[in-house]
Amino acid sequence: MKVAIVYGTIEGQTGKVARFVSQHLKAKGHEVRMFDAKDHSVDIDISDAEKVILAGSVHERRHPEDFEVYLMAQRDALNAKESLLLSVSLSAAFKAGREEAQDYVTELSMRTGVDPTQVALVAGAVRSRKYDYFSSMVLRHVVLRDRPSIPADGTHEFTDWDQLRDAVDTFVGAAA
Ligand SMILES: Cc1cc2nc3c(=O)[nH]c(=O)nc-3n(C[C@H](O)[C@H](O)[C@H](O)COP(=O)(O)O)c2cc1C
Repeated sequence: MKVAIVYGTIEGQTGKVARFVSQHLKAKGHEVRMFDAKDHSVDIDISDAEKVILAGSVHERRHPEDFEVYLMAQRDALNAKESLLLSVSLSAAFKAGREEAQDYVTELSMRTGVDPTQVALVAGAVRSRKYDYFSSMVLRHVVLRDRPSIPADGTHEFTDWDQLRDAVDTFVGAAA
């Protein structure tokens, strides 16, 4: 099956998620094309893809701007295909945050008009060495405000790779 992956990442975790999904699908014999939404030198052509995987991280409740702009611009083409949205956030890392993580997806759909066939809320990572002062303050006092169980320092990856693999298999397998 031909699968296109379009991703938007700020600190790299969603890029890692996209590469993991691509490698997994290729190992299963699928033909995969992967596009970084912020690479404006490339024409993101999904016309021959049978399925599309959209992966974007959440910062201050929103997915990356280039990613959202791409969704808005290609709304009709995307809604005409089967798609899986991987929304990568820290809220998705724990039970009490799942509702908020789902809200980010609802807000993304409202802004862009894109209505993915399936959605997976994917737990992201903390990479404090990459943050500037503003980002580290937002992370500590806004995102992790009432979640002391998640450390705001160092690097901590919360992504559940087995769960991600299952979500992708369910999506790709559904059409087989
Ligand atoms: C400045 C900043 C703001 C963030 N805002 C949110 C947020 O509003 N909600 C959330 O659940 N996670 C938030 N996160 C956590 C990111 O979604 C998480 O670190 C994710 O792994 C980033 O993915 P990326 O490396 O692909 O950009 C934020 C992280 C940073 C650094």
